[in-house]
Amino acid sequence: MSETLNDVRGEALGALGGAGDARALEAWRVAFLGRKGRLTSVLRGLGTLPVEERKQVGAAANALKEELEAAYEARVEEVRRAQLAATITQGRVDVTLPGRPQRRGGLHPVTQLMRQITDAFRSMGFSIVEGPEAELEYYNFDALRIPGDHPARDMWDTLWVDERVGGARPLLLRTHTSPAQIRYMERYKPPIRIAVPGKAYRYEATDTTHEWQMTQIEVLAVDEGLTMAHLKGTLLELFRRLFGPERRIRLVCVYFPFVEPGAQVLMDCWVCSGAGCHTCHRTGWIEMLGAGMVHPEILENMGIDSSRYTGFAAGMGVERLAMQMYGVEDIRWWYQNDLRLLGQLR
Ligand code: DAH
Repeated sequence: MSETLNDVRGEALGALGGAGDARALEAWRVAFLGRKGRLTSVLRGLGTLPVEERKQVGAAANALKEELEAAYEARVEEVRRAQLAATITQGRVDVTLPGRPQRRGGLHPVTQLMRQITDAFRSMGFSIVEGPEAELEYYNFDALRIPGDHPARDMWDTLWVDERVGGARPLLLRTHTSPAQIRYMERYKPPIRIAVPGKAYRYEATDTTHEWQMTQIEVLAVDEGLTMAHLKGTLLELFRRLFGPERRIRLVCVYFPFVEPGAQVLMDCWVCSGAGCHTCHRTGWIEMLGAGMVHPEILENMGIDSSRYTGFAAGMGVERLAMQMYGVEDIRWWYQNDLRLLGQLR
Protein backbone atom coordinates (compact mmCIF):
# COMPACT_ATOMS: atom_id res chain seq x y z
CA MET A 1 0.00 0.00 0.00
CA SER A 2 2.79 2.43 0.91
CA GLU A 3 4.24 1.39 -2.41
CA THR A 4 1.12 2.79 -4.07
CA LEU A 5 1.34 6.02 -2.09
CA ASN A 6 4.90 6.48 -3.27
CA ASP A 7 3.78 5.94 -6.86
CA VAL A 8 1.03 8.49 -6.47
CA ARG A 9 3.44 10.97 -4.95
CA GLY A 10 5.97 10.53 -7.72
CA GLU A 11 3.40 10.87 -10.46
CA ALA A 12 1.63 13.77 -8.84
CA LEU A 13 4.73 15.85 -8.25
CA GLY A 14 6.03 15.06 -11.73
CA ALA A 15 2.78 16.07 -13.40
CA LEU A 16 2.47 19.21 -11.31
CA GLY A 17 5.73 20.58 -12.64
CA GLY A 18 4.31 20.27 -16.18
CA ALA A 19 1.05 22.08 -15.44
CA GLY A 20 1.75 25.53 -16.85
CA ASP A 21 -1.60 27.28 -16.79
CA ALA A 22 -4.83 27.53 -14.84
CA ARG A 23 -6.53 24.88 -16.91
CA ALA A 24 -3.79 22.29 -16.52
CA LEU A 25 -3.58 23.05 -12.81
CA GLU A 26 -7.28 22.42 -12.36
CA ALA A 27 -7.05 19.16 -14.31
CA TRP A 28 -4.18 18.13 -12.04
CA ARG A 29 -6.15 18.97 -8.90
CA VAL A 30 -9.12 16.90 -10.06
CA ALA A 31 -6.90 13.97 -11.06
CA PHE A 32 -4.99 13.75 -7.80
CA LEU A 33 -6.92 15.48 -5.05
CA GLY A 34 -10.48 15.44 -6.41
CA ARG A 35 -13.33 13.30 -5.09
CA LYS A 36 -12.60 10.63 -7.66
CA GLY A 37 -8.89 11.35 -7.71
CA ARG A 38 -5.98 9.03 -7.13
CA LEU A 39 -5.40 9.87 -3.50
CA THR A 40 -9.05 9.59 -2.56
CA SER A 41 -9.24 6.09 -3.97
CA VAL A 42 -6.25 5.11 -1.85
CA LEU A 43 -7.99 6.44 1.23
CA ARG A 44 -11.17 4.59 0.29
CA GLY A 45 -9.21 1.35 0.08
CA LEU A 46 -8.04 1.72 3.71
CA GLY A 47 -11.10 -0.08 5.07
CA THR A 48 -9.95 -3.38 3.68
CA LEU A 49 -6.62 -3.27 5.58
CA PRO A 50 -5.84 -4.78 8.96
CA VAL A 51 -6.05 -2.24 11.82
CA GLU A 52 -2.32 -1.71 12.42
CA GLU A 53 -1.56 -1.22 8.77
CA ARG A 54 -4.61 0.97 8.33
CA LYS A 55 -3.29 3.42 10.98
CA GLN A 56 0.09 3.58 9.38
CA VAL A 57 -1.06 3.94 5.81
CA GLY A 58 -3.82 6.35 6.83
CA ALA A 59 -1.30 8.66 8.50
CA ALA A 60 1.00 8.44 5.48
CA ALA A 61 -1.87 9.15 3.10
CA ASN A 62 -2.98 12.18 5.06
CA ALA A 63 0.58 13.48 5.13
CA LEU A 64 0.77 13.00 1.38
CA LYS A 65 -2.51 14.80 0.92
CA GLU A 66 -1.19 17.79 2.85
CA GLU A 67 2.06 17.70 0.93
CA LEU A 68 0.29 17.64 -2.42
CA GLU A 69 -2.06 20.43 -1.43
CA ALA A 70 0.85 22.60 -0.40
CA ALA A 71 2.71 21.77 -3.62
CA TYR A 72 -0.41 22.64 -5.58
CA GLU A 73 -0.77 26.04 -3.90
CA ALA A 74 2.90 26.75 -4.45
CA ARG A 75 2.64 25.81 -8.12
CA VAL A 76 -0.46 27.99 -8.60
CA GLU A 77 1.45 30.94 -7.24
CA GLU A 78 4.47 30.14 -9.39
CA VAL A 79 2.37 29.98 -12.58
CA ARG A 80 0.62 33.23 -11.69
CA ARG A 81 3.94 34.99 -11.26
CA ALA A 82 5.32 33.59 -14.51
CA GLN A 83 2.26 34.78 -16.42
CA LEU A 84 2.46 38.23 -14.89
CA ALA A 85 6.12 38.47 -15.81
CA ALA A 86 5.34 37.44 -19.39
CA THR A 87 2.58 40.04 -19.68
CA ILE A 88 4.88 42.76 -18.41
CA THR A 89 7.65 41.80 -20.84
CA GLN A 90 5.36 41.60 -23.85
CA GLY A 91 3.59 44.86 -23.10
CA ARG A 92 6.78 46.70 -22.34
CA VAL A 93 6.97 50.21 -23.73
CA ASP A 94 10.32 51.43 -24.85
CA VAL A 95 10.12 55.03 -23.69
CA THR A 96 13.29 55.90 -25.58
CA LEU A 97 11.60 55.33 -28.98
CA PRO A 98 10.47 58.46 -30.84
CA GLY A 99 6.70 59.10 -30.64
CA ARG A 100 4.26 58.30 -33.41
CA PRO A 101 2.89 61.55 -34.83
CA GLN A 102 -0.89 61.92 -34.56
CA ARG A 103 -2.75 63.02 -37.68
CA ARG A 104 -4.50 66.24 -36.87
CA GLY A 105 -7.89 67.12 -38.28
CA GLY A 106 -8.60 70.61 -39.50
CA LEU A 107 -11.25 72.83 -40.98
CA HIS A 108 -12.01 72.52 -44.68
CA PRO A 109 -10.38 75.38 -46.65
CA VAL A 110 -13.81 76.57 -47.78
CA THR A 111 -14.98 76.67 -44.16
CA GLN A 112 -11.85 78.57 -43.16
CA LEU A 113 -12.37 81.19 -45.85
CA MET A 114 -16.06 81.46 -45.01
CA ARG A 115 -15.14 82.17 -41.40
CA GLN A 116 -12.55 84.76 -42.41
CA ILE A 117 -15.18 86.56 -44.43
CA THR A 118 -17.91 86.41 -41.80
CA ASP A 119 -15.37 87.51 -39.16
CA ALA A 120 -14.53 90.55 -41.29
CA PHE A 121 -18.22 91.46 -41.63
CA ARG A 122 -18.83 90.89 -37.94
CA SER A 123 -16.06 93.32 -37.06
CA MET A 124 -17.66 95.89 -39.40
CA GLY A 125 -20.87 95.68 -37.36
CA PHE A 126 -22.81 93.09 -39.37
CA SER A 127 -24.79 90.34 -37.65
CA ILE A 128 -24.33 86.80 -38.91
CA VAL A 129 -27.66 85.13 -39.60
CA GLU A 130 -28.85 82.07 -41.50
CA GLY A 131 -31.75 80.97 -43.66
CA PRO A 132 -33.16 77.58 -44.71
CA GLU A 133 -31.54 75.53 -47.50
CA ALA A 134 -34.89 74.01 -48.53
CA GLU A 135 -36.63 77.23 -49.48
CA LEU A 136 -40.00 78.31 -50.78
CA GLU A 137 -40.15 79.39 -54.40
CA TYR A 138 -41.60 82.67 -53.18
CA TYR A 139 -38.46 83.67 -51.23
CA ASN A 140 -35.96 82.29 -53.72
CA PHE A 141 -37.58 83.93 -56.74
CA ASP A 142 -40.85 85.86 -56.64
CA ALA A 143 -40.08 88.12 -53.70
CA LEU A 144 -36.73 88.91 -55.34
CA ARG A 145 -38.56 90.15 -58.44
CA ILE A 146 -38.01 86.98 -60.44
CA PRO A 147 -41.56 85.85 -61.38
CA GLY A 148 -42.21 82.41 -62.88
CA ASP A 149 -42.40 83.59 -66.48
CA HIS A 150 -39.38 85.88 -66.25
CA PRO A 151 -36.36 85.02 -68.39
CA ALA A 152 -34.09 85.90 -65.47
CA ARG A 153 -35.07 82.56 -63.90
CA ASP A 154 -32.73 80.97 -66.42
CA MET A 155 -29.86 82.47 -64.44
CA TRP A 156 -30.56 79.88 -61.75
CA ASP A 157 -31.17 76.28 -62.81
CA THR A 158 -33.21 74.91 -60.00
CA LEU A 159 -33.41 71.67 -58.03
CA TRP A 160 -37.04 71.35 -57.03
CA VAL A 161 -38.09 69.41 -53.97
CA ASP A 162 -40.78 66.76 -54.47
CA GLU A 163 -44.18 68.47 -54.23
CA ARG A 164 -45.38 65.79 -51.78
CA VAL A 165 -42.79 67.16 -49.38
CA GLY A 166 -43.37 70.81 -50.22
CA GLY A 167 -47.13 70.49 -50.02
CA ALA A 168 -49.20 73.27 -51.56
CA ARG A 169 -46.30 75.73 -51.63
CA PRO A 170 -43.53 74.89 -54.12
CA LEU A 171 -40.27 74.03 -52.38
CA LEU A 172 -36.79 74.04 -53.85
CA LEU A 173 -33.17 73.92 -52.80
CA ARG A 174 -32.23 77.59 -52.67
CA THR A 175 -30.21 78.56 -55.73
CA HIS A 176 -28.58 81.44 -53.85
CA THR A 177 -28.53 82.95 -50.36
CA SER A 178 -30.45 86.05 -51.49
CA PRO A 179 -33.83 84.77 -50.16
CA ALA A 180 -32.40 85.31 -46.67
CA GLN A 181 -32.61 89.06 -47.40
CA ILE A 182 -36.38 88.81 -47.75
CA ARG A 183 -36.82 86.61 -44.71
CA TYR A 184 -34.83 89.09 -42.63
CA MET A 185 -36.63 92.21 -43.87
CA GLU A 186 -39.97 90.53 -43.15
CA ARG A 187 -39.07 90.36 -39.48
CA TYR A 188 -36.67 93.24 -38.83
CA LYS A 189 -36.75 96.87 -39.85
CA PRO A 190 -33.83 99.22 -40.57
CA PRO A 191 -31.13 99.80 -39.62
CA ILE A 192 -30.17 96.39 -41.00
CA ARG A 193 -26.66 94.99 -41.37
CA ILE A 194 -26.41 91.24 -41.93
CA ALA A 195 -24.12 88.68 -43.52
CA VAL A 196 -25.65 85.29 -44.34
CA PRO A 197 -23.30 82.36 -44.94
CA GLY A 198 -24.81 79.13 -46.23
CA LYS A 199 -25.11 76.53 -48.92
CA ALA A 200 -26.86 76.94 -52.25
CA TYR A 201 -27.63 74.39 -54.96
CA ARG A 202 -27.99 74.47 -58.73
CA TYR A 203 -29.27 71.94 -61.25
CA GLU A 204 -26.03 72.05 -63.12
CA ALA A 205 -23.71 69.80 -65.09
CA THR A 206 -20.43 69.96 -63.20
CA ASP A 207 -17.12 70.94 -64.75
CA THR A 208 -13.95 72.59 -63.55
CA THR A 209 -15.72 75.84 -62.65
CA HIS A 210 -19.27 74.61 -61.91
CA GLU A 211 -20.59 72.60 -59.02
CA TRP A 212 -24.16 71.71 -58.12
CA GLN A 213 -23.48 72.72 -54.51
CA MET A 214 -21.73 75.83 -53.30
CA THR A 215 -21.19 78.07 -50.31
CA GLN A 216 -22.34 81.65 -50.59
CA ILE A 217 -22.27 84.67 -48.35
CA GLU A 218 -25.05 87.20 -48.74
CA VAL A 219 -24.69 90.73 -47.45
CA LEU A 220 -27.50 93.20 -46.79
CA ALA A 221 -27.49 96.68 -45.32
CA VAL A 222 -30.53 98.97 -45.14
CA ASP A 223 -30.44 102.39 -43.55
CA GLU A 224 -31.03 106.06 -44.20
CA GLY A 225 -28.66 107.56 -46.73
CA LEU A 226 -26.85 104.41 -47.88
CA THR A 227 -25.32 104.77 -51.35
CA MET A 228 -23.10 102.86 -53.78
CA ALA A 229 -20.18 104.50 -52.01
CA HIS A 230 -21.02 102.57 -48.82
CA LEU A 231 -21.28 99.36 -50.82
CA LYS A 232 -17.95 100.01 -52.46
CA GLY A 233 -16.25 101.00 -49.22
CA THR A 234 -17.53 97.91 -47.40
CA LEU A 235 -16.37 95.53 -50.10
CA LEU A 236 -13.02 97.26 -50.49
CA GLU A 237 -12.45 96.92 -46.76
CA LEU A 238 -13.32 93.21 -46.95
CA PHE A 239 -10.95 92.54 -49.83
CA ARG A 240 -8.13 94.52 -48.28
CA ARG A 241 -8.43 92.45 -45.13
CA LEU A 242 -8.38 89.22 -47.11
CA PHE A 243 -5.92 90.08 -49.86
CA GLY A 244 -3.78 92.93 -48.60
CA PRO A 245 -4.03 96.72 -48.06
CA GLU A 246 -3.06 97.58 -51.65
CA ARG A 247 -6.19 96.11 -53.26
CA ARG A 248 -8.40 98.17 -55.56
CA ILE A 249 -11.88 97.32 -56.82
CA ARG A 250 -13.95 98.14 -59.87
CA LEU A 251 -17.71 97.96 -60.34
CA VAL A 252 -19.17 97.02 -63.72
CA CYS A 253 -22.88 97.40 -64.43
CA VAL A 254 -24.67 94.03 -64.53
CA TYR A 255 -28.33 93.08 -64.29
CA PHE A 256 -29.71 91.30 -61.25
CA PRO A 257 -33.49 91.53 -60.81
CA PHE A 258 -33.31 92.39 -57.11
CA VAL A 259 -30.91 95.34 -57.30
CA GLU A 260 -30.86 98.61 -59.21
CA PRO A 261 -28.27 99.42 -60.22
CA GLY A 262 -26.62 96.01 -60.18
CA ALA A 263 -22.90 95.47 -60.40
CA GLN A 264 -20.27 92.90 -60.85
CA VAL A 265 -17.40 93.65 -58.52
CA LEU A 266 -13.86 93.05 -59.72
CA MET A 267 -10.71 93.24 -57.67
CA ASP A 268 -7.24 93.84 -59.02
CA CYS A 269 -5.32 90.56 -59.05
CA TRP A 270 -3.41 90.06 -55.80
CA VAL A 271 -0.76 88.01 -57.53
CA CYS A 272 0.26 90.48 -60.27
CA SER A 273 -1.43 93.63 -58.94
CA GLY A 274 -3.18 94.10 -62.27
CA ALA A 275 -0.31 93.44 -64.66
CA GLY A 276 -1.82 90.18 -65.92
CA CYS A 277 -0.88 86.64 -64.87
CA HIS A 278 -2.08 83.07 -64.71
CA THR A 279 -4.36 83.65 -61.72
CA CYS A 280 -6.34 86.49 -63.37
CA HIS A 281 -6.23 84.92 -66.84
CA ARG A 282 -4.06 87.82 -67.99
CA THR A 283 -6.81 90.39 -67.43
CA GLY A 284 -5.38 91.92 -64.26
CA TRP A 285 -8.82 91.67 -62.61
CA ILE A 286 -10.68 88.98 -60.76
CA GLU A 287 -14.48 88.68 -60.56
CA MET A 288 -15.36 88.62 -56.91
CA LEU A 289 -19.10 88.91 -56.53
CA GLY A 290 -22.45 90.36 -57.57
CA ALA A 291 -23.85 93.38 -55.77
CA GLY A 292 -26.06 96.42 -56.08
CA MET A 293 -28.54 98.76 -54.46
CA VAL A 294 -31.61 96.95 -53.15
CA HIS A 295 -34.49 97.50 -55.58
CA PRO A 296 -36.91 100.07 -54.05
CA GLU A 297 -39.84 97.82 -54.95
CA ILE A 298 -38.46 95.12 -52.65
CA LEU A 299 -38.08 97.59 -49.79
CA GLU A 300 -41.68 98.75 -50.30
CA ASN A 301 -42.95 95.14 -50.39
CA MET A 302 -41.24 94.62 -47.04
CA GLY A 303 -43.00 97.66 -45.61
CA ILE A 304 -39.84 99.78 -45.67
CA ASP A 305 -40.30 103.37 -46.92
CA SER A 306 -38.03 103.59 -49.97
CA SER A 307 -38.12 107.37 -49.99
CA ARG A 308 -36.44 107.33 -46.60
CA TYR A 309 -34.34 104.15 -46.68
CA THR A 310 -31.95 102.70 -49.18
CA GLY A 311 -29.97 99.47 -49.04
CA PHE A 312 -27.09 97.67 -50.62
CA ALA A 313 -26.66 93.95 -51.14
CA ALA A 314 -23.95 91.60 -52.30
CA GLY A 315 -23.56 87.88 -52.81
CA MET A 316 -20.35 85.93 -53.22
CA GLY A 317 -19.38 82.32 -53.91
CA VAL A 318 -16.80 81.05 -51.47
CA GLU A 319 -15.54 78.02 -53.46
CA ARG A 320 -14.46 80.08 -56.46
CA LEU A 321 -12.73 82.57 -54.26
CA ALA A 322 -10.98 79.74 -52.44
CA MET A 323 -9.90 78.27 -55.79
CA GLN A 324 -8.20 81.50 -56.71
CA MET A 325 -6.64 81.99 -53.30
CA TYR A 326 -5.13 78.52 -53.23
CA GLY A 327 -4.53 78.06 -56.95
CA VAL A 328 -6.90 75.09 -57.07
CA GLU A 329 -7.81 74.39 -60.67
CA ASP A 330 -10.99 72.33 -60.36
CA ILE A 331 -13.94 73.40 -58.20
CA ARG A 332 -15.00 69.76 -57.81
CA TRP A 333 -11.86 68.99 -55.82
CA TRP A 334 -13.34 70.82 -52.84
CA TYR A 335 -15.88 68.06 -52.41
CA GLN A 336 -13.84 65.00 -53.31
CA ASN A 337 -12.38 64.98 -49.82
CA ASP A 338 -8.90 64.03 -50.93
CA LEU A 339 -6.83 64.72 -47.83
CA ARG A 340 -3.68 65.04 -49.90
CA LEU A 341 -5.19 68.29 -51.20
CA LEU A 342 -7.23 69.47 -48.23
CA GLY A 343 -4.47 68.66 -45.73
CA GLN A 344 -2.07 71.07 -47.46
CA LEU A 345 -4.36 74.05 -47.09
CA ARG A 346 -4.47 74.44 -43.35
N1 DAH B 1 -27.66 85.89 -55.69
C1 DAH B 1 -26.78 86.15 -56.81
C2 DAH B 1 -26.31 84.82 -57.38
O1 DAH B 1 -26.23 83.87 -56.69
C3 DAH B 1 -25.59 86.97 -56.39
C4 DAH B 1 -25.98 88.37 -56.03
C5 DAH B 1 -25.91 89.38 -56.96
C6 DAH B 1 -26.37 88.67 -54.75
C7 DAH B 1 -26.27 90.68 -56.65
C8 DAH B 1 -26.71 89.97 -54.39
C9 DAH B 1 -26.65 90.97 -55.36
O2 DAH B 1 -27.11 90.29 -53.17
O3 DAH B 1 -26.98 92.23 -55.02
O4 DAH B 1 -25.99 84.77 -58.55
